[in-house]
Amino acid sequence: MAHAKRRDTDDGPGGERDGERDGHVAGGEESGFHTTRIPPKVYAAELYRLQGELGKLQTWVKETGARVVVIFEGRDAAGKGGTIKRITEYLSPRVVRIAALPAPTEREKGQWYFQRYVEHLPAAGEMVLFDRSWYNRAGVEKVMGFASAEEVKRFMRQCPIFEQMLVEDGIHLRKYWFSVSDEVQLARFRKRLHDPLRQWKLSPIDLESITRWEDFSRAKDEMMVHTDTSSAPWYHVASDSKKQARLNMIHHLLESLPYHDVPSRGPVELPERPAGTGYRRPP
Ligand code: ADP
Ligand code: MLT
Repeated sequence: MAHAKRRDTDDGPGGERDGERDGHVAGGEESGFHTTRIPPKVYAAELYRLQGELGKLQTWVKETGARVVVIFEGRDAAGKGGTIKRITEYLSPRVVRIAALPAPTEREKGQWYFQRYVEHLPAAGEMVLFDRSWYNRAGVEKVMGFASAEEVKRFMRQCPIFEQMLVEDGIHLRKYWFSVSDEVQLARFRKRLHDPLRQWKLSPIDLESITRWEDFSRAKDEMMVHTDTSSAPWYHVASDSKKQARLNMIHHLLESLPYHDVPSRGPVELPERPAGTGYRRPP
């Protein structure tokens, strides 16, 4: 698993805050954890610049018929949702959409596991952001016992093949793991508990993720062993600082895609409105 590109503002005496002490991943995952606060003005300016680039990416996707899949994974409260919001904020829902699937229905449970996700894959000229994804099987479904050991094993075997098929077909597949420390996750849950605007975000599974922290760590380790492949590698996003995580992730996504500035076909000038038309304020 590689690090989403660190920005200059990442550096500083933040220290490591990682609660995910997994050793198997090459590259030393912990090294990315710094929680230096990014000055609000720097954040706003950089986000503005990146959102402008995302507009160019969108035009490129639309005009060249590219297909892009971006997977957002990570523990509850890791900041996936907030990052997705910043990406889509100024984009067209017809080009860039979000797939945030609920728990599977009885009918879906009787299908090939990947089937309901396949329905959401992009056609030419579309980008789909998966807010959680087929990786549920290796994470929450495994830990919570929604899937059997045999089903999880099958997933680990099929997932790299499935992703290889997508990549081979020309889909740009990017997988991001948002990594939050146990203290920061807990602090975010507390905030949700007391904030009427955020209470809805706190689910029974979130509470389980507090007591089952280690189980989720193990599940993630195993998932990485099987699914961090050369054709579909994982990228790690240190997420104890939400703002830093957003900038890093978006920056990495843009850098990793072969988009270029496609001349806009939009108007360059507004026409004159004929005299005497338009709304007039009543006397
Ligand atoms: P969120 O992370 O969107 O706040 P939850 O924390 O409630 O949602 O659930 C985490 C994930 O677990 C979701 O992707 C949800 O679809 C999945 N999930 C919940 N219940 C089940 C279930 N019975 N079987 C399979 N997946 C489930
Ligand atoms: C997140 O912050 O990662 C999302 O809001 C998902 C969640 O916390 O359940």
